[in-house]
Amino acid sequence: MTSHSTHQELVTKSVISELNGSASVSFLSLLRSLPGIDPLLVLKELHTHSKSSGRYANQAKALLEDSNTKRDYAVRSHPHPVPHPLDYDWRYSPKGLMAIIEQLERKVTAKGVVALLGAPTLAKALSERRSTLQLHLFDQNTLWGQLIDGVAFHELDLASDGVPKEVLNQADYVVLDPPWYIDTYKHFIWYGSQLLNDGGTLAISVLPIGTRPSADADRRKIMDYAKSCGLVFVGEETAALNYSTPPFERNAFRAAGISTAIDEWRHADLWEYRPVQNAAGSSRPEQEKEVSTWHELTLDVVRIRFDMTASSGLPELHSLVHGDVLPTVSARDPRRENATVWTSGNRIFHCSNSQRLYDLCQSIEWPKNVAEVNASRDSTESRALKQIEELVQLEILEYGGHIG
Ligand SMILES: C[S@@+](CC[C@H](N)C(=O)[O-])C[C@H]1O[C@@H](n2cnc3c(N)ncnc32)[C@H](O)[C@@H]1O
Repeated sequence: MTSHSTHQELVTKSVISELNGSASVSFLSLLRSLPGIDPLLVLKELHTHSKSSGRYANQAKALLEDSNTKRDYAVRSHPHPVPHPLDYDWRYSPKGLMAIIEQLERKVTAKGVVALLGAPTLAKALSERRSTLQLHLFDQNTLWGQLIDGVAFHELDLASDGVPKEVLNQADYVVLDPPWYIDTYKHFIWYGSQLLNDGGTLAISVLPIGTRPSADADRRKIMDYAKSCGLVFVGEETAALNYSTPPFERNAFRAAGISTAIDEWRHADLWEYRPVQNAAGSSRPEQEKEVSTWHELTLDVVRIRFDMTASSGLPELHSLVHGDVLPTVSARDPRRENATVWTSGNRIFHCSNSQRLYDLCQSIEWPKNVAEVNASRDSTESRALKQIEELVQLEILEYGGHIG
């Protein structure tokens, strides 16, 4: 049996078990009670039941209708800086933050050393509690530097950069929240194991079993790799960490036909480890320092990535999908390959010369009347800049006009 068919069985079994319990009165409550299954797969499953003459047909129809009922996301949850889909940046919800803060504060003394790997909103929340903890944030997203006070910010790539001497073997508690891919898990675990002191605890946010066909195997690989790094498993809490639905994913869901707001449906399991005394420890997973081909501009509050390898031809944007929003956040979607311009609202475009477009956008002061700037440009460049201006206006509106 393939992992795809096993995953499909898990989806079917989990949805039926919820429908049997009749506990899920809305599409959102159904999603929240499932083991992290993609809402689009849940929709598909409900469609199958609704078209059948089986016992779940009416329940499935009611849940589908609920998924189609227009409900807006709360504006309070628009984050700053706005996450970009190419970073796989899923932030903790307020509930998720409280859960990890309580866990951490139970284990660490007031002046303890805490290292946060890929958990900037946790660093921000802890610093705002005016705690006396010694906080270290490790993250590659440069934008966090200006936003968090009272935290030592190590802006680096956890896959290839070195470990600062002052934090080596110093941390009482280490939190890892990598993008949910096995390679990034390994890099984060190795790095975290170097920071941990002898009596410390390392906490990993682990993808739930329903996330994708490989999730079960990925979870076993995480377990095996942590063991090879000299870490011993000390406990887990299922679905302990809750996440907000980022704006890019909201757009993807809307584009895929889910009109109701489905915030805070995603969760991760929390696994805790302690170091084994005198363990040999694994060698670091190999990784060449990667130079990204994507360059980013923040225009107002909208973040746009440009693929700098697309450098011949005209700088205009061409649609790749109906309505421009890619209706999924799955890294396995083949439509991603043709995108050379990508917004924080999950809009993707093909542009033969996104390098030129990047230069054009950078050359004007933003926000500025693009029409005014355009008077001196050729018509293709004018059109391309106008397209970007309209995109920025559209996404500012989607963020409620204001982020904070
Ligand atoms: C899934 S998000 C987790 C965000 C977290 N839940 C929060 O609310 O703060 C992953 C984070 O890891 C960071 N990241 C991803 N790969 C990285 C790498 N190789 N080196 C450093 N940081 C990385 C991203 O910038 C992002 O902040």
